[in-house]
Amino acid sequence: MVTAGPTREHLDPVRFLSNPSTGKMGFAVAGAAARRGCETVLVAGPVALKTPAGVKRVDVVSAREMLAAVKAAVADGGETVLVATAAVADWRPAKCAARKLKKRRMPDVLKLVRNPDILKTVKGVRKVGFAAETGAPVKEAARKCREKKLEFTVANDVLEKGAGFGCDTNKVAFVYPDGSVKDLPLMSKRSVAGRIVDEVLRA
Ligand code: CTP
Repeated sequence: MVTAGPTREHLDPVRFLSNPSTGKMGFAVAGAAARRGCETVLVAGPVALKTPAGVKRVDVVSAREMLAAVKAAVADGGETVLVATAAVADWRPAKCAARKLKKRRMPDVLKLVRNPDILKTVKGVRKVGFAAETGAPVKEAARKCREKKLEFTVANDVLEKGAGFGCDTNKVAFVYPDGSVKDLPLMSKRSVAGRIVDEVLRA
């Protein structure tokens, strides 16, 4: 199972909080898993990408919808490996209005509440996480491995050339709970995806 893309956290039907994730990395992971014969479910936030061949896709909008979709897919049974590439919004507006908020009525300060951490919440599956950082990606990735009980974390520094949101390339390191690191060179997201799935299948 792969989560991908951003989530959107609406404050009314026409406004939301989100981030620049395009879903490319996650869709590449789902495609690589399907090509290797894995039964693959892709839980995708709002993105403009075609579903890879052989992949079952579930579209969601918000973090809470993404969590529900992941839990439902886990419940289907079998050995599940969750590869969480999604850039999940960590907060949502405390209230979502049913109709467009008129700007003269908009508060200057928006009250936010925390979203669930999907990767941390889901239990009973093997888990691989991502850590998109702006500096010190390896240290942060090792912490996330331990806190979220991950087999490994795919760390990248989004400020590095060729590694940011929306690129077709990525430069990552696999970081393990004991702090050990496997550095990969700059390569296409398709190649990175293959390496991630191979690492999962090797264990
Ligand atoms: N993640 C998730 N649900 C969230 C937040 C993150 O499933 N609400 C997953 C991401 O898909 C990623 C990993 O957790 O695989 C790390 O996400 P990241 O945003 O880098 O880290 P956070 O846990 O949000 O921590 P911090 O803000 O301290 O970097």
